[in-house]
Parts: sequence; C-alpha cells; structure tokens
Amino acid sequence: MSLLRSLADRDRVFDFLVPAASPVDVRHGPILYLEDVTVSFDGFKAIDNLNLTIDDGELRCIIGPNGAGKTTMMDIITGKTRPDTGSVWFGSRHDLLMMNEPEIASLGIGRKFQKPTVFEALSVFENLELAMAADKRILPTLTARMSGEVRDRIEEGVDTIGLAALRDRPAGILSHGQKQWLEIGMLLMQRPRLLLVDEPVAGMTEQEMERTAELLTGLAGKQSVVVVEHDMGFVRSIARQVTVLHQGSVLAEGSMDQVASDPRVIEVYLGAEADADEEMV
Ligand SMILES: Nc1ncnc2c1ncn2[C@@H]1O[C@H](COP(=O)(O)OP(=O)(O)OP(=O)(O)O)[C@@H](O)[C@H]1O
Ligand SMILES: [Mg+2]
Repeated sequence: MSLLRSLADRDRVFDFLVPAASPVDVRHGPILYLEDVTVSFDGFKAIDNLNLTIDDGELRCIIGPNGAGKTTMMDIITGKTRPDTGSVWFGSRHDLLMMNEPEIASLGIGRKFQKPTVFEALSVFENLELAMAADKRILPTLTARMSGEVRDRIEEGVDTIGLAALRDRPAGILSHGQKQWLEIGMLLMQRPRLLLVDEPVAGMTEQEMERTAELLTGLAGKQSVVVVEHDMGFVRSIARQVTVLHQGSVLAEGSMDQVASDPRVIEVYLGAEADADEEMV
C-alpha cells in the first residue's frame, strides 16, 4: 500500500514536467485567430467585425484610441466576454468560444491586468511559488516537499523578471514597476503559450519601461505575446508588427513606421497623441 502510494506520488511529482497542458496545434497556422468577431453592449458595437491573426512566438503590439475595443478584445480571447458573432481559435484545434475562462487559462493563455495583484506580505520567491501552486497539476509536489525541478523553475522565473537580488524580500517593498514584473513572472509559472498584456508600462519610470521592453521582447519567441499600450515611445521600442484598432475593428496593420505614417491612423489616434504630448511638454 505504501509502495503504491509512493509510486502514485512520484507520478504526480513528474506531472509538472509535462509541458503546459496545451496541446495547441500551430503546425498549419497561427496560434490565435479571430474572424468576423462582433460584440455589442446595449446596441453599441464595441467590437465590430474584428479579424486578427497572431503567429506562434510573435510579439504583437495593439494600439488605438480610448474605447477602440482593445481590452474588450482581450476579454473575448480569455472567455470573459462572449461575442455575438464570429469565431475565435487557439491554434487549429481549440475553439475558444466553446470554452469557459478557467478552461481557456489552462490551455496556456495568460492575462496580465493593469493593476498588479501580488501578495505583498510574501517574498518574491513565495509569490512565484504560489502562482505555480495555482497550477493544479503540480499542487501535490508543493505540499510535502519542493522538488528540485520545481525550485529550479521558480529560480529561473526570478531571474527572468530581473528580481534575483530581491528574491527573499516581501513583495510589498517592490516599486510599481517591479510588482508588474513579478506579476508577469507569476503568469510565466503557468508556462503560457500566449500572454496578453494590457498597458504594462502605465505609471512606470523610463528606466522601468526599458527593463519591461527587454523582458517582453525576451519572452517573445518562447511564447506569443500581445501587448496593448498607449505609450508610443515604448511601443516603438518593442514593436515588430503593430495593429491599430479603431471602433472595434482593424484600421491598419504593419510595421511601426508603416502604421505611424498612415494618414487614417494619424487622424484617429497618433495626431491626438502628439497633441497630448505637446501639451505635456
Ligand atoms: N461590459 C461593458 N458594458 C458596456 N460597455 C462596455 C463594456 N466593456 C466595454 N464597453 C465599451 O466598449 C468600448 C470599448 O471599450 P474597451 O475598454 O475595450 O476600449 P479600450 O480600447 O481598451 O480603451 P482604453 O484605451 O481606454 O483602455 C467602450 O466604449 C466601452 O465603454
Ligand atoms: Mg483598455
């Protein structure tokens, strides 16, 4: 009996070594695919015939004026909001409109909200540990003893987010930017295939923004990253492919230079941003 139990325990210890639950199939196409998606709130179309394709490993920036539908788009991908029409696929195998929020998260879609939600009394390391424990597949390994592999994975997370020097300090002493990185680290503990990040640099110092740019560009390739951001300097520093949303659909798509010189984009967004910048000077 005890032998049986220890064998069963050992199986569970090895569970976490299995790559994220997500058997996402990207062999024949993109990792994320939205087609003709529309959602109305009280008759107002917040998303209007939206088409968007994200390739595996891509870093995509999404920009656009307030109310363009950027956050709503993330709500749809993560299952928080159901569209009225259209389709949303994760790889070629998973119809996200058939799944609820926890199911979508467990496929490997992680979302970072604007406000960091770290546990202030716990250390950086413990926050990552807890985020890992939230993954039901590895919970049993944390109850009795922490296996070397789990510990390594947390240490790797601490390094990735650049907080090695603060690993044993309570998260409460971290700066706003460091808390944002910690939260990104907590998402990474779940080994997401796709990370959705909404306005990551709001309230950050220039230096913190630079570090965030390094962090996000470093993650791309290993996972796909979709970043919504208003700070054009930041977007320019990380951008490869940029999508401009306006009134719930794609207004323009291309390199930063392409979209920044598009008269329609200047009219609805960048013109206003430039005016705002001038006012601030
Ligand atoms: N749950 C909801 N109920 C009613 N209206 C909503 C809801 N969520 C979003 N909206 C509306 O949908 C539109 C798109 O909002 P959304 O938050 O997606 O814009 P956004 O592009 O993220 O803007 P911002 O840059 O200001 O964050 C807005 O007009 C908003 O008021
Ligand atoms: Mg928003």
